[in-house]
Amino acid sequence: TMAEKAGHSHYMHKEIHEQGMVLRTTLKGRISDGRVDLSKDLNWTQEDAQRWKKVHIIACGTSYYAALVAERVFERWTDLDIRVDIASEYRYRNLRCDPETLAIFVSQSGETADTIAAQRKARAEGAHCMAITNVRGSTLAREVHSILLLKAGPEIGVAATKTFTGQVAALFLSALYLGRLRGSMTADEEARLVNEFLQIPYKVENVLEKENEVIKLAQKYHDRQDFLFIGRGISFPVALEGALKLKEISYIHAEAYAAGEMKHGPIALLDEKVPVMAIIPRDMMYEKTLSNVLEAKARKAPVIGVCTEGDEHASKYMDDYVEVPWTDEEFSPFLTVIPLQLFAFHVAKILGKEIDQPRNLAKSVTVE
Ligand code: G6P
Repeated sequence: TMAEKAGHSHYMHKEIHEQGMVLRTTLKGRISDGRVDLSKDLNWTQEDAQRWKKVHIIACGTSYYAALVAERVFERWTDLDIRVDIASEYRYRNLRCDPETLAIFVSQSGETADTIAAQRKARAEGAHCMAITNVRGSTLAREVHSILLLKAGPEIGVAATKTFTGQVAALFLSALYLGRLRGSMTADEEARLVNEFLQIPYKVENVLEKENEVIKLAQKYHDRQDFLFIGRGISFPVALEGALKLKEISYIHAEAYAAGEMKHGPIALLDEKVPVMAIIPRDMMYEKTLSNVLEAKARKAPVIGVCTEGDEHASKYMDDYVEVPWTDEEFSPFLTVIPLQLFAFHVAKILGKEIDQPRNLAKSVTVE
């Protein structure tokens, strides 16, 4: 009913708009005096944190893309070797999981069969297993050594939105806490990051206010057959998630590529009919991504940019663009993913698709 959807036409729309609030709740009580403190959530001792040499992060679907975003901060904020894998692959590989491994399983539902099986394998191999989940009583939550709960509230839309940003936040908190316990981050660095992290809910709400701009993009591009999403660095997994959202609910073919890899294949598909969605915040990789945008333009592909506010240089090269507020580069995924979620939603709405319950998809996949 409309009441359950709090005035929104679809659960997905409601959930997209809850993301500022979800981030605030996820951070609440977990940051004090400018430092991340997860001692109320996690039973990790200083000795545990010192013993670990490796982090494995395992998940499926959107949760896997949240893990790929987090990989980029674990490699910066901690001194551990980090591997991220899809649960259905991980469970049959030999990734040398052992008592020196912290294995983190990310699952909104905590009921995904492959993720549960991967956890059992890692546990048998002696790893410390941690779950990041939205469901306290789930199978995964009951089996692990430690849990960090998302406080996203129930997510009804099959396509995950608020739990993606919630999972990225929970993973970032874990990386910051681990960095602190291992002493792999300076106090200055930690203070700078925590300070910016606390601004993110407000900046997310600022992006949500640009919905009308995204509706115009959806009106302009909804009849295309194929899309290419590109990004580099921490924006590559954002491109993957943006393409997934579009596929899931609009059934339009969308592919995501690391922008620098475009010339090794997908550029062959580009012409004036194939829009390129470029995730290009002002960060370390900015100039590199921009040169890939020019390669796409040279093949006459229309380019839609997700850029940083006031970036007149990049926007000059775009056919269309949406701006997000400036943030430290680690935090840009929280902002750049929002226009992509809204774009998928509005394209699917214009096309008259079953947004909350797309064909062939389930909210949680409880069979292998
Ligand atoms: C299904 C859902 C996705 C979700 C994935 C993993 O495919 O449709 O939205 O990302 O499962 O689910 P989990 O509950 O493990 O995060």
